[in-house]
Amino acid sequence: MFITFEGIDGCGKTTQAALLAKMLEEKYEGKRRVLWTREPGGWTGGSWIRERILEGNLSHPMSELFLFLVDRCEHVRREILPVLDDDGVVICERYTDSTLAYQSWGRGIPSGKIETLFEWCSFPRPDRTFWLDIPVKKAMERVCLRGGRDRFEAAGYTFLERVRSGFSYLAQREPRRINTIEASEEPQVLASTIFSLVEVSSSH
Ligand code: TMP
Repeated sequence: MFITFEGIDGCGKTTQAALLAKMLEEKYEGKRRVLWTREPGGWTGGSWIRERILEGNLSHPMSELFLFLVDRCEHVRREILPVLDDDGVVICERYTDSTLAYQSWGRGIPSGKIETLFEWCSFPRPDRTFWLDIPVKKAMERVCLRGGRDRFEAAGYTFLERVRSGFSYLAQREPRRINTIEASEEPQVLASTIFSLVEVSSSH
């Protein structure tokens, strides 16, 4: 089972991914491997690419796109596929929907071209995606409270509004895969909603 979490910065993905990983680990009691990972940089040795992308001295949007794709090719082959092939569960913070929302809606690269590159790379499709939706203003308040602002967060309000509308478009386009979750709710409430949706999809 391949599960992804998506949303703008500050939407609470990490908290929800961690809670889901814990609940699934308790459920499977070691009988099924549960991998909790993230992009960019979620593979062994991949932290350099995360740092290069986030430090933000690239001049061309395509350079940024290609770095995310390099990162994903390595992440998929080294970490994600071995777990899926072994009937494990992968929980990944950010994946292809982030690339579409940020690099297409955010940076203006045509989405059809990006999706062609996904096909070339043969990226596996998630079984279920949780889009944690939150108003940009609220997300930015959270990000400022935690103190870190990378180049995407620093790109500002209108950029993140475009990214959010990208996620919204994708959720409407693929409602069977992408669940929209109202992320302003209490984390524990969200976690049990998400867990029950995973339970439903794993019983099919
Ligand atoms: P994170 O801090 O949520 O891990 O994500 C790092 C930043 O990278 C975040 O602002 C979103 C951005 N990003 C993209 O622009 N495209 C992508 O494909 C991915 C995976 C992340």
